[in-house]
Amino acid sequence: MVYMTIIEVNTNNNLVNWGKKMKTVAFFDTKSYDKESFERFCGEDIKLRFFENKLNEDTVGSATGFDAVCAFVNDNINKYVIEKLYESGVGIIAMRCAGYNNIDLKAASGKIKVVTVPSYSPHAIAEHTMGLILTLNRKLHRAYIRTRDHNFSLEGLTGFDLYKKTVGIIGTGKIGLAFADICGGFGMNIIGYDIVKSENFRGKYVSLNTLLSESDIISLHCPLTKENRHMINKATINKMKKGVFIINTSRGLLIDTAALIDGLKSGRVGAAGLDVYEEETEIFFEDYSEEIIFDDTISTIISMPNVIVTSHQAFLTKEALNSIAQTTMENLQAYFEGGKIKNEIII
Ligand code: NAI
Repeated sequence: MVYMTIIEVNTNNNLVNWGKKMKTVAFFDTKSYDKESFERFCGEDIKLRFFENKLNEDTVGSATGFDAVCAFVNDNINKYVIEKLYESGVGIIAMRCAGYNNIDLKAASGKIKVVTVPSYSPHAIAEHTMGLILTLNRKLHRAYIRTRDHNFSLEGLTGFDLYKKTVGIIGTGKIGLAFADICGGFGMNIIGYDIVKSENFRGKYVSLNTLLSESDIISLHCPLTKENRHMINKATINKMKKGVFIINTSRGLLIDTAALIDGLKSGRVGAAGLDVYEEETEIFFEDYSEEIIFDDTISTIISMPNVIVTSHQAFLTKEALNSIAQTTMENLQAYFEGGKIKNEIII
């Protein structure tokens, strides 16, 4: 395994800044857009070293000697990785995302602190969700390719009005609420299901079964937990309206992709918009355009004209990136200064 360092911020040979020892952070799964936003918010007494690799059992060795690691959604921070980080003196894992389902929190408990960015821009994800719906419904992805090829036919491009259609939102937290507001602007009938109800939800709460059977569009906005893994499966798809749109910008494992493919093939599912995929870890964020992908499931689903897959992109706005970098650096600063850390996950 090759460890690729892209760049260091605050390069300082003796790691001393104004008499204080500089704190060091190993930053994993780095892309150019991460670097830009983190450079903007990095304090003068913190040194970042950017690695392109994801953090996992093979790469954890490169964190040796660092005070902290900064990780992302597709890093695999299991018990082994936690133990190695702990042995090598890392005291904190700063997730630069909201979710933390890829960390063994039990293994980290009492050894390494875990912090996240609970909110950065719910609008970024909510707007991407509506983008997927509009594209799928009005077949913009197909129209774009047609007109570029001087094919001006409208055959097969018929959509439906969103106005007065029923959208079912599963998970009405920050993103679900922002998405409900967007749907409100379209004049949609909004229903929701959540294990904790919010008084700010502008739609009507219903049971999960009612949501499944009454929605024209179902959009997932709940976290992945042990309980809701594959909550969209053969049985739940069979309860849905024929032609339902299923949109997932939350976590891939909420959907049993094989069951979704069957639903799409049978026509029960009319379209799917997926920003996440249950086996995305090895695929998303990387360029495999020159290679053959050996994941037949993703190949099959991408080949369907009524499916759009984006590569965990919903968060990717300038506002969200800046907010993620700012909060992550504040989390780290608070830890290094021994102060209270606002966004610590404690189990
Ligand atoms: P949040 O914590 O504000 O809201 C989550 C809501 O889901 C809460 O109201 C909670 O009660 C509810 N919930 C939990 N378990 C549930 C279940 N089994 N059934 C129904 N509702 C349930 O979280 P937020 O900020 O709205 O984010 C939601 C999810 O979006 C995150 O957990 C993450 O997986 C995903 N996400 C995806 C991004 C992307 O780029 N695609 C970026 C950021 C978040």
